[in-house]
Amino acid sequence: MSTREQWGTRAGFVLAAIGSAIGLGNIWRYPYVLYENGGGSFLIPYFFALFTAGIPILLLEFWIGHRYRKAAPYALRDLARGWSWLGWWPAMVCFVIVTYYAVVLAWALSYMYFSFGLQWGDDTKAFLYGNFLKLTDSPSVVGGLQWHIVLPVVIVWAIVFFYVYRGVRKGIERANKVMIPLLLVMIAIVVFRGVTLPGAVDGLNHLLTPDFSKLANPQVWIAAYSQVFFSLSIAFGVMITYASYLPKRADINNSAFITGLANSGFEFFAALGVFGAIGFLAHVQGADVKDVASAGPGLAFVVFPKIISELPALNELFGVLFFGALVLAGLTSAISLVEVSIAAVMEKFSWSRQKAASIVCGAAFVGSLVYTTGGGLYYLDIVDHFINAFGGLLVGLLEVILVGWVVKKTAEARAYTNTMSDFAIGSWWDFCVRYVTPIVLGAMTLLNLVKEFR
Ligand code: PHE
Repeated sequence: MSTREQWGTRAGFVLAAIGSAIGLGNIWRYPYVLYENGGGSFLIPYFFALFTAGIPILLLEFWIGHRYRKAAPYALRDLARGWSWLGWWPAMVCFVIVTYYAVVLAWALSYMYFSFGLQWGDDTKAFLYGNFLKLTDSPSVVGGLQWHIVLPVVIVWAIVFFYVYRGVRKGIERANKVMIPLLLVMIAIVVFRGVTLPGAVDGLNHLLTPDFSKLANPQVWIAAYSQVFFSLSIAFGVMITYASYLPKRADINNSAFITGLANSGFEFFAALGVFGAIGFLAHVQGADVKDVASAGPGLAFVVFPKIISELPALNELFGVLFFGALVLAGLTSAISLVEVSIAAVMEKFSWSRQKAASIVCGAAFVGSLVYTTGGGLYYLDIVDHFINAFGGLLVGLLEVILVGWVVKKTAEARAYTNTMSDFAIGSWWDFCVRYVTPIVLGAMTLLNLVKEFR
C-alpha cells in the first residue's frame, strides 16, 4: 500500500527544501547577525556550525523522513517507541511561528503596495509604528482588529492555503518551482543595485571586516548555531515531513549538501545587498554605518523604506522588488511551516488533506489575528523570544541524542543513504552526530537556560 503523496521530481523536492530554508531569516536576520558577531570572522563559527550540525542534522532528518515515510511524530515513533512527542513538539512550534510569520508577510505585502508613491513619507519610523501598526501603549487585544492589516493577512493565508490544499506535487512543489526562481531573479537585482550604490563599499567594509576577538565569546557561537538552525529549518519537523514524500530511491546526501549550501549562499549574497544599501543610506545621511544598521522589522520596514526613498532613480521598482522578495521567500517557508502540522494531523486523525489543510490553516489564521491588533508587535516579540530560546536547538539536541545514543542508528542511517547517493558520507558524520553536535548543543542549551532564568 503506497498511497503516500510524492514529489514529482527530485528537483521539486530540493527546491521545496530550499524554499523552506530561505525565508525572512536569510534576508532580515542573517545580515545583522553576521555584522554584529564579528563580520568576516563570524564565518568561522558559522561554517563550523553548518558542517558539524547544520548539514549533518539535515541529513539525519532527510533519512528519518525517507526511511519511515511518515509525518514527524510518527516517523519518530517508528524510529524509537515512545518518542512521538519529539515530533509533536516542533510541529506545535511551527504552528506558533507561522501565526506571526504570516503577519510579517502581510506587512511586507502592504509595503509592496506602499512602494507606489513612496507612501511612507519622510519619517518611516513614525509611519510604521503610528500610521501602519497603530501600536498602543498598553498592549491589548481589546484595541480591536486593524482591518487594513487583516486584509493582507487574509491574502497571505489564501495563497498558503491554496497550495497546501492542492497537495505535495500539485501544490507545494508547484509553488516552489514558480516562487524560488522568481525570488532569485528579484534578489539578484536588489543585490546588484545595493552594492553599486554610492557608499556601498563602506557598508560592505563594516559588514565584512573581521573581528577575531569575538571568537572567544560563547554568545557568538550560540548566534552561529541559532542562525544555522532557524535558517535551515532544521529541528522543526519540516525536513522530516518533506523527505517523507520522496520516492523510494532518492539521493539524500546530495540533496542535503545542495540545500545547506544554497541556503548559506543565498544569505551571504543577500547580506551584501543589505549592507551595500545600508552603506548608501549612511552616506546620504552623513551618518555612521553602525547607527543605520539593524535587523528584523526595523531593517525591513524602517531602514529600507528610507533607503528606497533616497535612491537616485527607479525607487518604486526597487521597493516592489525588495518587499516582493521578502514575500516570496516567506511564502515558501510559511507553506513548509503549516505542512508539518497538516501532515501530522492527517495521520493522527486519518483526515483527508483537504480537511486537514482547512482546519490547520483556519486555526492558524485565527491565531494570526492576535498580531493585527494594537498590541500585535509586543506579542510577536514575546513569542519570538520564547521560540528562539526553546525551539530549534533543544529539539536538535534531543534528535542527535536519540539517534546517536538511544537507538544507536548512525551507522545504519549512513549505510542507508550512501547506497542511494552519488557520493558517500564518511564516518565523520557519525562522529558529529554522536559527539560534536550533542556536546556543543548541550553546552549551548545550558548557557541559554542560565541566561533565561538568571
Ligand atoms: N528557515 C526559515 C527562514 O529562514 C524559517 C523557518 C523556520 C521555516 C523553521 C520553517 C521552519 O526564515
